[in-house]
Amino acid sequence: MPEDFSFIQITDHHLGPSATSVRLGYAVNYTFTQTLQHLAQYAAPQADFLISTGDLVDPPTPQGYTWLQNELGAAPGSAAFPGPLSMRRPGLEGLPLYLMPGNHDDRRRMCEQFFPLSRPGGMLNASFEHKGVLFLCLDWGADSKARLYPELYNCLDQGLRSGLPLVICMHHQVTSLNMRWMDAFIADEVNAFWEALCAPTTTARILGIIAGHTHISYEKVEYGIPTWGLRSTSYTFHPIDTLAVRLANPQYRLFSIQNGVLTSRLFEVPLPLMDDTAVGEEI
Ligand SMILES: [Fe+2]
Repeated sequence: MPEDFSFIQITDHHLGPSATSVRLGYAVNYTFTQTLQHLAQYAAPQADFLISTGDLVDPPTPQGYTWLQNELGAAPGSAAFPGPLSMRRPGLEGLPLYLMPGNHDDRRRMCEQFFPLSRPGGMLNASFEHKGVLFLCLDWGADSKARLYPELYNCLDQGLRSGLPLVICMHHQVTSLNMRWMDAFIADEVNAFWEALCAPTTTARILGIIAGHTHISYEKVEYGIPTWGLRSTSYTFHPIDTLAVRLANPQYRLFSIQNGVLTSRLFEVPLPLMDDTAVGEEI
């Protein structure tokens, strides 16, 4: 039985190079900062670490990664991918940080910025252990549509053989939201993934799957395994069959493991209006 602890998930930041960057009508860097401020106050005091499930920047420029690094106060340390990095941002000082890539991330640039000891050959698959739980960070690739690469399957197989309780972290989703365009991004080979998890002695050790990519929060049980998705810290989407961007408040999750059971509490971040004093003065 693992120790009890909590951790925070954020996802899909789509950051630009400056505090005023806008993407699809959404002030993505501003809402990311608001999310950090909110979780520092309400969730971080209970959490052992923070993990982002990818799409850190969009497009993946060095300037975007530098802005993120400065905002977190997360200088590259001695950790290889996926961390932990140690943050120096006020309110989050010393909180360990794990970073995963999404389809919009440049894996080589991301490692140069945060994990210079890691040399990604292609995908970034890795695991870390925390208080008796093995976190598998699985990489379905740099395209909108997921692909089950051999590296992912090997990492999954190693984790399943560890005998430890598992939390499986990933960017892409592995479960349908009943949205035609979004569901098309699920890997064609997803059944092989679920078959690996559904071996008789395996399912009970999987505490849950946490994902990003959809920009929409959901909670489902698939083959007996709890599966969570999370609204982005940037724009979200209407839950319909065609792509339609929706502007809404960012969300994040505080996960807790108690007595070997993983549960989630969803937080929504209020957005104070941006101070337009400077704009007014210019006019
Ligand atoms: Fe995204």
